[in-house]
Amino acid sequence: MPKIQQPLNSGFTAFATAEEVVEGIDLSGKTAIVTGGYSGLGLESAKRLSNAGACVIVPARDVSKARAHTADVPRVTVLPMDLLDRASVDRFALDFLLSGTPLDILINSAGIMNPPLFRDADGNEGQFAVNHLGHFRLVQKLLPALEKSSNARVVSTSSRAHFSSPVNFEDPAFRDRPYDPIIAYGQSKTANALFAVALDARYKDRGIRAFSLHPGAILTGLMRNAPREVLQRHNIMDASGAAIIDPLNDRKSVEQGAATQIWCAVSAQLDGLGGIYCEDCDIAPVAEEGATRGVQRWASDPELADRLWSLSEELVG
Ligand SMILES: NC(=O)c1ccc[n+]([C@@H]2O[C@H](COP(=O)([O-])OP(=O)(O)OC[C@H]3O[C@@H](n4cnc5c(N)ncnc54)[C@H](OP(=O)(O)O)[C@@H]3O)[C@@H](O)[C@H]2O)c1
Repeated sequence: MPKIQQPLNSGFTAFATAEEVVEGIDLSGKTAIVTGGYSGLGLESAKRLSNAGACVIVPARDVSKARAHTADVPRVTVLPMDLLDRASVDRFALDFLLSGTPLDILINSAGIMNPPLFRDADGNEGQFAVNHLGHFRLVQKLLPALEKSSNARVVSTSSRAHFSSPVNFEDPAFRDRPYDPIIAYGQSKTANALFAVALDARYKDRGIRAFSLHPGAILTGLMRNAPREVLQRHNIMDASGAAIIDPLNDRKSVEQGAATQIWCAVSAQLDGLGGIYCEDCDIAPVAEEGATRGVQRWASDPELADRLWSLSEELVG
């Protein structure tokens, strides 16, 4: 079991909100990028970072929607970027590098869940492409700015859904096996967790620490492909269509759902640590046989993380 996956007893619980987690922390002079920072958990995180004084850049595939959603958030800049489009990721990153600004916090919150099968221009399965490969490429391109910070954090929003699948290194793109959207989502979320392990191992000596997390189950736009009866069966939505909030059973509000992202991004409790999967604003334990929470070995194993790193380098070119 990786020794670093030991809870700290941070003092926060599943009820903590992003606002509580960042309370008393001054982020003036810091710069953050939040992918997906114009809806759901990313928007809440962008607001909290901004309220603490950070300048926040929100890359968006729908710029006008993003500007409308962030209109009342100070110090936010929206710029175009689609994680599925290599050229747009490169352009966004290059513009950022040209600004000469150190990047202190990168929260990778953008994501999609359970769509019908689609592929990117290179034939990669869509969820792996958006949730993992797009962010992998973005981070690669932003490394010089992260190094410039000398105290940077990269936060990958994984999910407990990683329990549904390891990365299938033989066939990540579902070419020789039937496409299952739930397995594909799980694979992409395992990749998010392994990416944090591999990134941290490679760059911690250059001042870049990486974390991944499960935010809880939160009714957001992510669930757009889920039928209402499925959301009700999983106790995410009640009969009236409202979100069920029950943090002890992992059902959280958006404010609670963003808390672990923000904890990973700013908490001094994580100083000197990295390559860790978190939940409920604490380090998660490794999931033992039959456990329903924590992090699976297949999402925290450094050898699998290295293997994913090599595969991702090949796939993004
Ligand atoms: N909600 C949950 O219960 C839950 C549980 C576990 C993990 N997560 C993870 O949490 C993260 C945030 O999810 P959320 O619940 O906040 O969902 P959300 O409200 O749907 O936010 C996802 C964001 O990702 C953006 N996005 C999607 N495809 C993109 C692309 N190709 N390029 C750039 N941006 C893209 C979306 O933009 P558009 O509006 O343009 O589509 C949206 O802003 C995801 O990574 C998700 O897997 C969520």
